[in-house]
Amino acid sequence: MLAEQTGVILKVVPINDRGEILFDEFRNLLGPKTRLVSVAHVSNALGTVLPVEQIVATAKLQGIPVLLDGAQGIPHQHVDVMAIDCDFYAFSGHKMCGPTGMVVLYGREELLEKMPPYQGGGDIAPPCGVEPGSKFFRPQMKLSLPTWSTTPILFHGRCSRNKRA
Ligand SMILES: Cc1ncc(COP(=O)(O)O)c(C=O)c1O
Repeated sequence: MLAEQTGVILKVVPINDRGEILFDEFRNLLGPKTRLVSVAHVSNALGTVLPVEQIVATAKLQGIPVLLDGAQGIPHQHVDVMAIDCDFYAFSGHKMCGPTGMVVLYGREELLEKMPPYQGGGDIAPPCGVEPGSKFFRPQMKLSLPTWSTTPILFHGRCSRNKRA
């Protein structure tokens, strides 16, 4: 969908018969025009655990940010986004036995700061009039529209603590 909307070219990393990514081919797909690497932490179809640290380190050599889909990673293991060093990590709350209908997006702060809101309104900007180029609030407000749904967030926090315990 993003490719259709923006014209970006989507390149798919090939895998072998065991579902492992072909690392040399992955490396060869990266180039100066690569804007983002996005892979699942754990494949839902095959159960393959991807070498995410190695993927991030390789992308980082060329300054390419990495987004990990954690839908199958987060329920099955302790995830340390700092150790993996990824730029984004996303999963939905119910994958941690939390409530449905909420999504967690971890993002590196300096990248979130640079990202424009995906839609406008609500509390995303401080009172600033209607001029173009208005300053936006910090990322957690800028990407959260409209008023936060606090009940599932609080419930999810409890589920996260239970998972760690
Ligand atoms: C790898 C992966 N990504 C995304 C999803 C979608 O997750 P959800 O339906 O919880 O939003 C799933 C669902 O299981 C998945 O396995």
